[in-house]
Amino acid sequence: MLIDTFGRRAVDLRVSLTDRCNLRCTYCMPEEGLQWLPKPQLLSDEEIVRLVRIAVTLLGVTEVRFTGGEPLLRPGLVGIVAACAALDPRPELSLTTNALGLARTAEALRAAGLDRVNVSLDTLDPAVFHTLTRRNRLPDVIAGLAAAEAAGLRPVKINTVLMRGVNDHEAADLLAWCLDRGYELRFIEQMPLDAQHGWDRDSMVSAEEILARLGERFALTPEPDGRRGAAPAERWYVDGRTGADGRPARVGVIASVTRPFCRACDRTRLTADGQVRNCLFATGETDLRTALREGADDEAVAALWRAAMWGKKAGAGIDSPDFAQPERPMSAIGG
Ligand code: 5AD
Ligand code: SF4
Repeated sequence: MLIDTFGRRAVDLRVSLTDRCNLRCTYCMPEEGLQWLPKPQLLSDEEIVRLVRIAVTLLGVTEVRFTGGEPLLRPGLVGIVAACAALDPRPELSLTTNALGLARTAEALRAAGLDRVNVSLDTLDPAVFHTLTRRNRLPDVIAGLAAAEAAGLRPVKINTVLMRGVNDHEAADLLAWCLDRGYELRFIEQMPLDAQHGWDRDSMVSAEEILARLGERFALTPEPDGRRGAAPAERWYVDGRTGADGRPARVGVIASVTRPFCRACDRTRLTADGQVRNCLFATGETDLRTALREGADDEAVAALWRAAMWGKKAGAGIDSPDFAQPERPMSAIGG
């Protein structure tokens, strides 16, 4: 098991498959992109599957989410998904993606055993999309979403980051659009994880503000306590509406900064270059790649992973005055 000194158990593994991306979201990367990891440092498809197998069979991981960068840019993605779906016990498999190219791959991913997708979408306005991501790809995202839904990668979830003065006026429009299509929308407070260190507490759009904006158009009822569990999103029922699956329509808010959920965190992370991180905001990492390549057996790798998680801190403390942003940006850690 992956437990820490605060009694938390990590069962949810996030695997970054690449640090590269085909968008340049301003809250994530500079216009020119970043210095990408050199190929020899990246885990091979086989190494990734081996580490997931160790996590699932020896360490109690039950959910695996593939992230990036943009995981659809990884050529071996479908094969990796298929190999992970063949593990016993079979983990739940999901993908966090910007959906560029998903229209072409959703069916193959579903056939390989992918269960669900989380798509990043911050705006419905093509001009705002260009301002935010520095690319003109909104139609591709919308096509990717429709393909995911059609392929049965349900429920399709959407992650939205609101930026003040850019897309914060769209909160209610985005919710209406998602409700109409049966997509489950979650707003994420912007975190200090951008490569440019441009995050600023005062310009961040807080959960409170997001809820106030949604409240202008929708009646929100908090989902009863206890439903949150380790899930970072606090959820609200919307207008007593029913979703496409017959369950109550909901909206989520992930208040990572103003209402952190560290006490219930059940995550462990693996970077594309084979480092375990016990927190998004950890300042240290544990190198599994070197151990793998030096011939460590499964039990030795598992022992390193357990030790990495044992040292997990109580919280990230973004709101505390001595908070230090991690050296690696979000795109290199995995969302
Ligand atoms: N703060 C909050 N969310 C972020 N994401 C990327 N960078 C940040 C940030 N600095 C989001 C993406 C994606 C998910 C993995 O995290 O929009 O939906
Ligand atoms: Fe790419 Fe996601 Fe970063 Fe946007 S937030 S640039 S989609 S990795």
